[in-house]
Amino acid sequence: MDLLCLSEAASVASLTDRIINQDFCLARPFLPEGFVDLLILDPPYNLTKNYNGHIFRSQEAEAYTSWFDDVAASLLPFLRPAASVYVCSDWRTSNLVFPVLDKHLHVRNRITWEREKGRGAKANWKNNTEDIWFCTVSDDYYFNVEAVKLKRRVIAPYRFDDGEPKDWEETQNGNYRLTYPSNLWSDITIPFWSMPENTDHPTQKPEKLMAKLLLASSRPNDFVFDPFLGSGTSAVVAKKLHRRFCGIEINRAYCCWAAKRLQQTEDDSTIQGYSDGVFWERNSLNDQTPHKIHRTPRGNTLELFNE
Ligand SMILES: C[S@@+](CC[C@H](N)C(=O)[O-])C[C@H]1O[C@@H](n2cnc3c(N)ncnc32)[C@H](O)[C@@H]1O
Repeated sequence: MDLLCLSEAASVASLTDRIINQDFCLARPFLPEGFVDLLILDPPYNLTKNYNGHIFRSQEAEAYTSWFDDVAASLLPFLRPAASVYVCSDWRTSNLVFPVLDKHLHVRNRITWEREKGRGAKANWKNNTEDIWFCTVSDDYYFNVEAVKLKRRVIAPYRFDDGEPKDWEETQNGNYRLTYPSNLWSDITIPFWSMPENTDHPTQKPEKLMAKLLLASSRPNDFVFDPFLGSGTSAVVAKKLHRRFCGIEINRAYCCWAAKRLQQTEDDSTIQGYSDGVFWERNSLNDQTPHKIHRTPRGNTLELFNE
């Protein structure tokens, strides 16, 4: 896939399913108005982080807030009236982005998800969560809760008097219940070495997490825009779920990784942790049908490890 670099006004068609390798601030004057149905915003958090040579430095709270306000405000003209917006952050950055989002959008919820990884701290609680703010442009927005149900093992298998399972299903592989998703997600696994989606990007988001956002807040063929694309997770998931996408990423190597991942979807369009139209809790791979098969670079197949 050829990477784009914008220097004149771009049409929606010319941006569809493309990656722009450019500083978002330099690309944005050329973007069309009102083309985005779902905005995924996963900007650098207010932490010093080396993105493959592009170093983002932690700033005073005021400076970060002002930077983020500029980013958020400049994105508003690209949103359609019924668009949804998800913004990722860590607990500290969350406090800075919330007032900005509250000023420009309708903030509807804060999702907190468990990273299940992270360094232990000797004199503090291990930092094991991240936030995702859910916002909309207006009160008219799309939300498909049926598409993001969670399949969980039944701990208390209550039955009706006639012996039939109450709200749960008895299967060969165990007893499961389909539940409505809350804003606390403990079924997410950070990509690790044995997962095909894994890259060396330092803050890569899991495909399963992104799939929840896309399935809840976009329809097939909707336009998903991600101005801080990183390793391309939102674009890859958009392609797998038949949404249109466009992403911007300043780092060329990351753009190439994203393009490679997009290419790989031709052979494998599965999303780990999502099958049979539902999201599965962690460590349930053996119960999912069909088992997902991953092709190795040599063309062999190997069954995925549990998440
Ligand atoms: C938090 S990461 C996004 C990770 C991504 N969601 C993924 O799953 O891989 C933020 C990304 O923004 C990129 N970035 C930082 N400043 C940028 C800018 N001004 N324009 C475009 N991309 C930028 C960084 O290189 C980094 O890859």
